[in-house]
Amino acid sequence: MTEKRKAIRKIGVFTSGGDAPGMNAAIRAVTRTAIAHKLEVVGIRRGYQGMIEGDFVRLHSSDVSGIMQMGGTFLQTARSAEFRTDEGMAKAYQQLKEHEIDAVVVIGGDGSFRGALDFSQQYDIPFVGMPGTIDNDMYGTDYTIGFDTALNTVVEAVDKIKDTANSHGRIFFVEVMGRDAGQLALKAGIACGAEVILIPEVQSDEDELNRFLTKGYKDKKRSGIIMVAEGDKAGGAFKIAEKAQKDHPELDVRVSILGHMQRGGSPSAVDRVKATQLGVAAVEALLDDQKSIMIGIKDDSIVHVPMVKVVKMNRDIDNELLNILRIINTI
Ligand code: F6P
Repeated sequence: MTEKRKAIRKIGVFTSGGDAPGMNAAIRAVTRTAIAHKLEVVGIRRGYQGMIEGDFVRLHSSDVSGIMQMGGTFLQTARSAEFRTDEGMAKAYQQLKEHEIDAVVVIGGDGSFRGALDFSQQYDIPFVGMPGTIDNDMYGTDYTIGFDTALNTVVEAVDKIKDTANSHGRIFFVEVMGRDAGQLALKAGIACGAEVILIPEVQSDEDELNRFLTKGYKDKKRSGIIMVAEGDKAGGAFKIAEKAQKDHPELDVRVSILGHMQRGGSPSAVDRVKATQLGVAAVEALLDDQKSIMIGIKDDSIVHVPMVKVVKMNRDIDNELLNILRIINTI
């Protein structure tokens, strides 16, 4: 381990926005790396709201023992409306100053980074971000903490739904999380052998759905899974299923909304390892005088991405995967 410059003595770490499995591994990695570099670590509870209220806890190495396998975030999280105001940010700054926190690691999605950027434009405390969301929709990184676990949760759930779908010869519309993003629906759809996938990034293809519901289902299949991302432009699974049932009264249609179970559970090995890599890199970046960047993973390597880009741009959907889906589902 190379000795880093010690301009920073104490760092804060917090989780923000929707929780994601692997956030605890991330907090642990940040804490242990900071301690390895002889820094003090403060956990900020309940995201930006806790920062405003000074809900801080000193973290020692032992405080992050045995948390890696736990889902959720032991520091808890929040979406704070108050932090978006000038007064809220001023209070947060005051708290950080009072607690002598020199730099901060924020673990969350692009909403959390937007907050960090706004704050950095007015105040002199550097923030470095780690991508944490099950949506895997952040620009500049192939990976976000929690995605792999959520993907496995969806696959396990849909495998079970397929058992009952097959037994009854039913069409299931399964809705997965992703208010603005279809990454989870797309990957899960491929992994589960879904017949059709409907995601916000792609104009819903009614023809494709109808083709399956008429020709594909009748001629070739005993059942079907239509994977719908919650943010699909045609509506959620209920709305799409209702129309499908109306257009095809002969079909036995059901809907299953997987909901927040997708955010829970013990993190997968992938999420634990990658969250750890990101956490180490985040502290080292702060010690290298970096600020307002996100630590990401691209092509299996750590990358530094300006937060400005992360909040302005979206992650594109993988056309290769869409194409694969079309080939596999040719009827
Ligand atoms: O950002 C992650 C996410 O799980 C989205 O996929 C989902 O739309 C949203 O959070 C749900 O947020 P909440 O838990 O606040 O309802």
